Amino acid sequence: MAMRPYIVVNCAMTADGKITSIARRQVRISSPEDLERVKSLRAGSDAILVGVGTILADDPHLTVKSLPPGKSPLRIVLDSQGRTPDGAKVLQGGTPTLIATSNHCAKTWTGAEVLRSGERQVDLQFLMGELERRGVKRLMVEGGGETISSFFKEGLVDEYRVFVGSLVLGGKDAPTPCEGQGFLESDAVRLRLINVTKMGSGALLCYEVVRDAAQPA
Ligand SMILES: NC(=O)c1ccc[n+]([C@@H]2O[C@H](COP(=O)([O-])OP(=O)(O)OC[C@H]3O[C@@H](n4cnc5c(N)ncnc54)[C@H](OP(=O)(O)O)[C@@H]3O)[C@@H](O)[C@H]2O)c1
Repeated sequence: MAMRPYIVVNCAMTADGKITSIARRQVRISSPEDLERVKSLRAGSDAILVGVGTILADDPHLTVKSLPPGKSPLRIVLDSQGRTPDGAKVLQGGTPTLIATSNHCAKTWTGAEVLRSGERQVDLQFLMGELERRGVKRLMVEGGGETISSFFKEGLVDEYRVFVGSLVLGGKDAPTPCEGQGFLESDAVRLRLINVTKMGSGALLCYEVVRDAAQPA
């Protein structure tokens, strides 16, 4: 297998499996206890990655406030066409930011390095190799659903951690943790449940991805 970082996907979903509402705006799904857990997971990562859909919807800083900018994890955005706004918070605050675009995107940003790969979308295998080369050992993928789907599809997930909040948002068009085209049963990503923890009003489920299909999940 190509050398790449250890990849942890983390997200929060409702009790009916939605990561946001049909309005696609940020919804507080995590409990305060879970937010603390997410902060320490971020702090223990070398880089944090989201898709441009999350930048446009939520405009997150992606920083760890308890750490000085020089010690905060690298912020990475998957953005094939260069849609990250110049005023996005992910470009501010002094923490390094890498915007991964396709080969066809000429956009540049003040406050970010640009790494080009892939034709239609960012080539994740290339990007992971490059991150490994730069010393990124642990990568946290924070979403959204299209991004998480691509990481699963490319076999680039080691752990999947999902907090299940005690609310229902519903809506057939409201996104779930893994969007994309979906998998048929024969291609389903098999997981092994490692831990279940009650965290305030919700539960955290921690899974490992099963690589050897012969092993029981
Ligand atoms: N509950 C949670 O834990 C959580 C966490 C994060 C986000 N969210 C929610 O999720 C929603 C956004 O999710 P989303 O699925 O629309 O967007 P997303 O996953 O944040 O971003 C997807 C976009 O990234 C770009 N991209 C570039 N290369 C890619 C690749 N190889 N694979 C996949 N995407 C690639 C694509 O746009 P281009 O083709 O233009 O490059 C794609 O449309 C927001 O409503 C946000 O609130 C929830």
